[in-house]
Order: sequence, then structure tokens, then C-alpha cells
Amino acid sequence: MSRWQKWFACSLSVALVFLVLLHLSVTLGQTEGDVESLRQAAERMAETARTKFASVYPALAKQIIEDTGVKEGICIDLGTGPGALGIALAKAGNFKVYAVDINPFAVAIAQRNAVEAGVSDRFFPMLGNALDLPFKDNFADLVVSRGMIPFIEDKAAVFREAYRVLKKGGAAYIGGGFSRMLDEETVVKIVKEAWGAPQKLPMRRMPREFWEEQVKKAGITNYRIIEDRYPSGVYGTWIMFKKQ
Ligand SMILES: C[S@@+](CC[C@H](N)C(=O)[O-])C[C@H]1O[C@@H](n2cnc3c(N)ncnc32)[C@H](O)[C@@H]1O
Repeated sequence: MSRWQKWFACSLSVALVFLVLLHLSVTLGQTEGDVESLRQAAERMAETARTKFASVYPALAKQIIEDTGVKEGICIDLGTGPGALGIALAKAGNFKVYAVDINPFAVAIAQRNAVEAGVSDRFFPMLGNALDLPFKDNFADLVVSRGMIPFIEDKAAVFREAYRVLKKGGAAYIGGGFSRMLDEETVVKIVKEAWGAPQKLPMRRMPREFWEEQVKKAGITNYRIIEDRYPSGVYGTWIMFKKQ
């Protein structure tokens, strides 16, 4: 190898090492930031569920069982967060609950909460994506989701995937907000504490017609849009459908 070739090979290796290190530092820097924001988001939701929203989940579990008529079997809770709705359903009905969340910190918190609530024999948190569920077709009797869909861009894909995993005769209850089983005074207090004003509720930013369009886009025709409404406003919007 000539002197020039050696110099060229050496410079190339140095440049390559530099590029690899640069790439690694950028990637690792982003990953650390992402991990920290996931951890913070999971902890914030856990704190809200434990305090301000604590009364919502048992009331909503009762409402879901009453509206769908499903009180036993396999339940999937999409975007479970700290697991409060799935845990309330595991207590209110005779369910085996698979609680799916895309955030690993939320899954860990949900597992801890299940042990504390004494339902870890029938409530199973797991990492997963609502848009690509790790379940076979015709698996679940009930699919629920509170507070996840407003933040997902392809809402029709969530409905389509929920429909796929439902058994014939099974029901889905997907949306956001509170429960009509709570009195108006309680709901208004929670809304003000959490968002300042009812108009800021995530589900209220999207009208009924929008949800109808999304559910139809998913190819689902047998559905009902449920609005929990008090004289002072709508405090919950739920898309309920059954698999025929
Ligand atoms: C506002 S929190 C609601 C948590 C819980 N359902 C509750 O009501 O207390 C939304 C949750 O959805 C989860 N999530 C967002 N996109 C998701 C996806 N594609 N698949 C599964 N979970 C998702 C988030 O990680 C977060 O835990």
C-alpha cells in the first residue's frame, strides 16, 4: 500500500468512526428524552387517575356493563394507562382483562395497581398498540377504551381493530369523558379541576358527525353514539358497537 493509500484509508476510518459516534450520540440523546417524557406522561396520568378521576372509573365500569349487557368473559382495555378502568371492570364483572398500552411505564404502573387492588389474578397489563393488537380474531367479549382515541390520528383503524378482535355478539365501548352514573355537580368539579373549562374536554372538540364518519369508515354499521349529557353540557362521548 502506498503512503497516499494508507493516508486515505486512515482518514476514511477516522471519518467513519466520527460519523458513527455522531449518529449514536444523536440517537441516544433522542431516546433518553423520549424515555423520560414517556415516564412523566405515565406518572401524570397515574396521579390524575388516583386523585381527580378516582370516582369516574367504577361509575363508568357500571355504565359500560349496563349499556353493552356484557358482564363476563374476556375484556380488552385499550390505552389502559394506570389500569383504572380495566381494574374497575375486573371488580364489577366476571372478566379476565387484558390491559394494553403502548407506554411501558404505564404497563408497569398498571401491574402495580392491579396487585394493590387485589385483581392481579384476572387483570393482565401488556405492552401493545391499539392499531395492531396482539390478539387473534374473534377473541374478546368486550373491548373498552377511555381517553385514548382523541389522541390517535387514524381513529377508524382503532374501531376496525377492535371489531376484528371481538367475538360474534361481543361489544365495544370506546371514547372519552366521564359517566352519567356520576351526578352533575361531581362531573363539573372534575372537569374544572382537570381542564379549567368544559369546552376544553378532548372529546367535545369532535362532534357526533365526526365519530359517525370514522366508525362508518371502519366498515361498522351496527353502532350507537352515546353522549353523557347534563343541562350544562356533554361530559362523555362513547362509540358503542356490537359484532354481528
Ligand atoms: C389519556 S390516557 C388514558 C388512560 C386510561 N385509559 C384512563 O382513562 O385513565 C391515554 C393512554 O393511551 C395510551 N395510548 C396512546 N396511543 C396508544 C396506542 N396506539 N395503543 C395503545 N395505547 C395507546 C397512552 O400511552 C396513555 O396511557
